[in-house]
Amino acid sequence: MIFTVAVDGPAAAGKGTISRALADRFGFAHLDTGLLYRAVGAKGGDPVQAAEGLTPEDLARGDLRTMAAGEAASKVAAIPAVRAALVAFQRNFARRAGGAVLDGRDIGTVICPEAEVKLFVTASAEVRAHRRWLEVGGDAAQVLAEVRARDDRDMNRADAPLKPASDAVLIDTSDLSIDAAVEAAAAEVARRLG
Ligand code: C5P
Repeated sequence: MIFTVAVDGPAAAGKGTISRALADRFGFAHLDTGLLYRAVGAKGGDPVQAAEGLTPEDLARGDLRTMAAGEAASKVAAIPAVRAALVAFQRNFARRAGGAVLDGRDIGTVICPEAEVKLFVTASAEVRAHRRWLEVGGDAAQVLAEVRARDDRDMNRADAPLKPASDAVLIDTSDLSIDAAVEAAAAEVARRLG
């Protein structure tokens, strides 16, 4: 069975948690596409060459989850040739046998416009910054400023900007528990599976 679930949205909206839960529940494979851009940003040197030569070891680095790695990722992610180098891998993953969940920024709009289910998971910048701050600590106002700066860069770049696909189902997690957000997402998948 070929079945793709595209989960897009801004940083710290809950995409990763929802995507992992969907993959578990329905037995689908999961790809966190942000990790690809994080690995390219962390590799240093020419980002286009880094994207073209990305290896499994690059994706296994222990330092890809930091705020700094997210910031570096969002800078290299604005380069069209970096994005182009990562398209085929993501599309192949999406159409693999057995079903796949991909989370990112442009899965429903660019990578898999034909995805069977498209979700746009979001939350207010304040709520997302608070979640990030609980993870990383530090100065709360600065964390909020960083979340806003990353939103701004991801939403306003020319190539594959962050935006919901016209047929995406919106899930706003600002006032939802993790369980409620997962149930809302799972209901969409179950409905489409029939
Ligand atoms: O989701 P995550 O925070 O790991 O993504 C890091 C950065 O990678 C994002 O801010 C975004 O700029 C970029 N990204 C992207 N397209 C994707 C996934 C991530 O541009 N599909």
